[in-house]
Amino acid sequence: MSDGSFSLRHGAEAGLPEQSRGTEPAPELSGGWPLVGHLREFQRDPVAMLLRARHEHGDLVRFRLGPRRFVVFVGPEAHDAFFRAPEEQLGAKDVYQFTVPIFGRGVAYDVSPELMDEQLGFLFPALREAALENFVRIMFDEATSLVETLGEEGEIDLPRVMNDLTVKIASRCLIGQEVRDRVDEGFSDAYHDLQNGINTLGFFFPRFPTPAHRSRDRARRQIVDLLSGIMAERRNSGAEPDDFMQSLMQARYQDGRRLSDDEIAGLLLTVLFAGQHTSAVLATWTGLELVREPHYVGRIRAEMQDVYGHSGAVSLAGLTRQAALENAVRECERLHPPLILLVRKVLQPMRYQDHLIPAGTMAVLSPAASHRLADVFADPDAFDPDRFAPPVSEDKQHVYALIGFGGGKHRCMGKRFAYLQLKVIWSALLDRLDLELATPFPAPHYGSWVTGPEEPCRLRYRRRSQAPLTR
Ligand code: HEM
Repeated sequence: MSDGSFSLRHGAEAGLPEQSRGTEPAPELSGGWPLVGHLREFQRDPVAMLLRARHEHGDLVRFRLGPRRFVVFVGPEAHDAFFRAPEEQLGAKDVYQFTVPIFGRGVAYDVSPELMDEQLGFLFPALREAALENFVRIMFDEATSLVETLGEEGEIDLPRVMNDLTVKIASRCLIGQEVRDRVDEGFSDAYHDLQNGINTLGFFFPRFPTPAHRSRDRARRQIVDLLSGIMAERRNSGAEPDDFMQSLMQARYQDGRRLSDDEIAGLLLTVLFAGQHTSAVLATWTGLELVREPHYVGRIRAEMQDVYGHSGAVSLAGLTRQAALENAVRECERLHPPLILLVRKVLQPMRYQDHLIPAGTMAVLSPAASHRLADVFADPDAFDPDRFAPPVSEDKQHVYALIGFGGGKHRCMGKRFAYLQLKVIWSALLDRLDLELATPFPAPHYGSWVTGPEEPCRLRYRRRSQAPLTR
């Protein structure tokens, strides 16, 4: 286990003679083929490959995907070096260029990292305590409305249901009620086309004129028109609801300038893309893990009784007391982090321990592989939420042991929102439904940016006679 220290052993601290400090290339993973390198193994199971790399060579290992050179950082000390590296050394902007046609010009990864920071900073007022209390009500309202559409018993397609639910929650909390009202009138379809704009070709050639990219560009224009219309209505009526759109409409850059409608739309798309699909996928994995642990579900239900009594309403304060559920969500973040790879481009040569990573290399960190290290998490493949309960608290042994929401400068700004959402959804569903797997427990579906389960992925449900949580 890590001792929690942060010895990076760069250069002088490593006590090496001047000329040999950090000059060695990182060791290369075995099994690479001419031309393709490790591509085939990586496509089959990237997590198993990166764990093999750690096992073979330790915290820093080189590999190749076709002509591209990569280096993976595995283990809490290596995560620390990755997350602390300055933007000028490990840059995110180059890697995320594929998002520019989606989010638009002049925002996020199209601008300097300093300006992007300033822009994301405008969103923090929308995540303050009073706003979260309101978001919790919205989340519960949407989750219970979903249950009301179901019969006495039947089957649900879990990924689809979680996707629809989180689109509704995200559109209402992150963008605005007006968008939620239009989810079924074109917004969902346009959002879907925009999501399809994220594909392998788009990663390398974001502006290549394929049919998918043309639909993406059309969908973006549609969404920007919709959002601009809503902003105009708000300005006319003087309405100032408590949401992300309003925070951005009221924000000013340091030089006093207001954000344009296009910039506001771009930033709303940034949070929607960062927060919706990731939430849907983790909500799906959480449900899958819970339904095969009836004993643990019993503990979560007993905890809900303790916190809310026989007819209580879910609240922000109550959710913070649902520790058994919180630990279950944390365990699902560990076992199934939706973003299995975080990638940066090495812009300036970087030293780590005795190694030098040359500029031009792609630096990778894998929450999915790092969460399965037996020297950090005991019995790492087992579902055991109690590993996070005191006195064990395995996640507390190192700041970067559990990294499903990233770390450092680019750490997720929506983690609290996401946890609340997952807890509200599963409180509502476990309160009102008995659930079991209708299809075998799925393997992860690698190959898309956000890693969900292979389909089919269905649950059988039966309505419970007692459902103590009230609206
Ligand atoms: C289960 C849900 C979520 C997961 C697993 C997740 C995960 C992550 C991760 C791993 C990163 C770091 C990416 C990197 O280092 O390259 C990140 C960044 C980010 N997340 Fe989340 N996220 C979730 C939900 C949300 C939500 C709900 C929001 C908005 C309210 C959000 C907004 C963002 C933003 C804006 C960034 C970029 C921060 C930056 O680059 O400075 N995320 N997220």
